[in-house]
Amino acid sequence: MKLVLTRALFGLPEEELRKAFTQIETVEKGRPLSHEELKEALRGADVVICMLNDRIDGATASNLKCVVTYSVGTNHLNVSELTAKGIKIAHTPDVLTEATANTAWALLLAVARRLNEASHWMREEGRCDFGPDVFVGHRIEGATLGILGMGRIGQAVARRAAPFGMKVIYHNRNRLPAATEEALRARYVSAEELIMSSDMLSLHCPLTSDTRHFINERSLSQMKSRSVLVNTSRGAVVDETALIAHLKRNPEFRVGLDVYEKEPQVPGELLRLPNAFCLPHVGSAERETRARMAQICGEEAIRFAKGQPLRYEHRI
Ligand code: DGY
Repeated sequence: MKLVLTRALFGLPEEELRKAFTQIETVEKGRPLSHEELKEALRGADVVICMLNDRIDGATASNLKCVVTYSVGTNHLNVSELTAKGIKIAHTPDVLTEATANTAWALLLAVARRLNEASHWMREEGRCDFGPDVFVGHRIEGATLGILGMGRIGQAVARRAAPFGMKVIYHNRNRLPAATEEALRARYVSAEELIMSSDMLSLHCPLTSDTRHFINERSLSQMKSRSVLVNTSRGAVVDETALIAHLKRNPEFRVGLDVYEKEPQVPGELLRLPNAFCLPHVGSAERETRARMAQICGEEAIRFAKGQPLRYEHRI
């Protein structure tokens, strides 16, 4: 059986992989593969360990029998087409929950307190002038934190809010049990109330046809003009064109982004806006987390090769 990895990974169970597969090929170009390169790489592969920027559908999959993605998100995979072809899919939930929640909080704190702008000013202009109105940001204590998507990561973000004295409201496909809401001190609200009442809004939903462009021109116009928006979920949950226009019109509205609509492309205009703090999709980028993700991917590939049930199978 042949295994293809679209990037070189640290943390793989290498010896066990060598025992389970007769052929292992790693395509490492130091960047995401183009669609043509991916198709070429997958030719003859039975199992692939792929990245979240490898778009795999029924046509790309050719001979594949199992796709293991080095991510929790699966929106880059055409799950229904792959499933219809009998191709198994595995992903890496759980292990990156805390790392991603930390990234969301890092963005939230930095953006609310304008730390990115202040650091940029020091570096670019060599200044360190204390002044009453120098990079004055928003107060965290007492502010209302809105969370869209109260799965593992949304809940981990909510848990971090109590020590900051924030009120938490959330919206989710399904309301959480009362005991969980109580433990998280989180109040369920409608999508409209979430948009209108949040001082800081953090997005943690998967990208689906229901959540695509959840943040759009209309919802942006309903948000508080001095609020903060953080996105560590998927870029297309936000209409990027509408967001750029809104940021330009409302300098007091600030955004912290780790994900973009057309990754790896990011509009230059967005990067230049002082009220946008942009990171290059590093939500789970902790050494231990990434090693654990690789280990899970390797173990799932081995389970498949041995005909065992997958532990982290993703189903429709
Ligand atoms: C994932 O795994 O889906 C995350 O976006 C990685 O940061």
